[in-house]
Amino acid sequence: LSAVNFDTTSFPALKNDLYLRAARGEEAERAPVWCMRQAGRYLPEFRAIRVENEFFKVCRAPALATEVTLQPLRRYAGLLDAAIIFSDILVIPQAMGLEVQMVPGKGPHFPDPLRTPDDLLRLVDRNSGFSVDTELDYVYKALTNTRHALDGQVPLLGFVGAPWTLMAYMIEGGGSKTLALAKTWLFAHRTAAHDLLARVADVAAQFLIGQVRAGAQALQVFESWAGELSPQDFAEFSLPYLALIAERVKAVFPDVPMTVFAKGAHYALEQLATETLFDVISLDWTIDPKAARARVDAALAIRTDVVPRSVVLQGNLDPTILLGDEQTIRERTAEMCQSFGRSGHIANLGHGMMPSHDPERLRVFLETVHKSSAELRR
Ligand code: CP3
Repeated sequence: LSAVNFDTTSFPALKNDLYLRAARGEEAERAPVWCMRQAGRYLPEFRAIRVENEFFKVCRAPALATEVTLQPLRRYAGLLDAAIIFSDILVIPQAMGLEVQMVPGKGPHFPDPLRTPDDLLRLVDRNSGFSVDTELDYVYKALTNTRHALDGQVPLLGFVGAPWTLMAYMIEGGGSKTLALAKTWLFAHRTAAHDLLARVADVAAQFLIGQVRAGAQALQVFESWAGELSPQDFAEFSLPYLALIAERVKAVFPDVPMTVFAKGAHYALEQLATETLFDVISLDWTIDPKAARARVDAALAIRTDVVPRSVVLQGNLDPTILLGDEQTIRERTAEMCQSFGRSGHIANLGHGMMPSHDPERLRVFLETVHKSSAELRR
């Protein structure tokens, strides 16, 4: 591991700005490509680090977080157009006072989750002398150090979990099939639910602003459990907080591209495009890119009351296609690029890499995006 560098006053010049140009809706010679969970257990070099180091220890040690962030960049040299900082969405619940463990083979576990609205008293925030910037300084250090170590190869992305997804984890205490406990709050403790969502949104916005100051060049908000909500409940419990986060960050950093990934919420595409300031909407694989493009453009076209804006789409290959043979990966990736069209696309999977993925199959995906997207735009 190389020496750490926490200087935020001067960073190496960016050599590949394809992702940033595409995210801002500018012309690009091909679609940039990166993958959610591109650093992770499918990589043997990641598993090797994890043998000696517990998950949150990697997040908290800047030199380790940098090393793991760079692993896919090294392996797929020249093929990835962005790096995403190694961390987790659950660092926010931790910072707000909840214990989170990462149980090998099982995922996140909260030994003492929020059960009733009275438990909100256990959370810390601004009003109880808590500072996001102090509590999550280790993520800022990881970002600053990684930005230096990247040496301008590609831009560095920061991220947070969205309020509804984080609330769900904080109440369920881990993964859940039905989210019955979290949903009980929505329908039996509605005021407390909004209180919690607002507090998480406040922390998330501050945290994103801090991440940009620390070196993040673009941001993504993960609403992984949007698809568990009805359109009506998404409009009440998710969308306003997503919109608020984008608004707060854009007020400070209007030029930093922001992406929203509301998994399963394609019913809300129009609202995400017209009622939030996100530059990029990330799609899962359950929607046809052509249809998504048409709906977003139609929604934007009838909004004559707002400053005209373009929305870029990201995605959306079904990650399980990477379990298929190389020919199938090539065909489906080329079809995906075609379906998104000649502009306004950042190539990605429709969700994250899975531990069972073969790293060489990801290479086929990345190479195919480079080739077919460039051909398409020639
Ligand atoms: O490479 C990257 O994308 C950056 C790092 C990153 C991780 N988690 C590392 C990680 C990012 C952006 C996340 C986001 C995250 N974390 C989400 C949103 C994206 C999504 O998948 O919907 C969610 C829901 C989580 C919560 C979480 N963290 C779960 C459910 C799990 C366990 C199951 C799983 O998919 O691995 C984690 C653990 C985790 N976060 C791992 C990694 C590499 C694997 C844990 C390990 O190393 O043991």
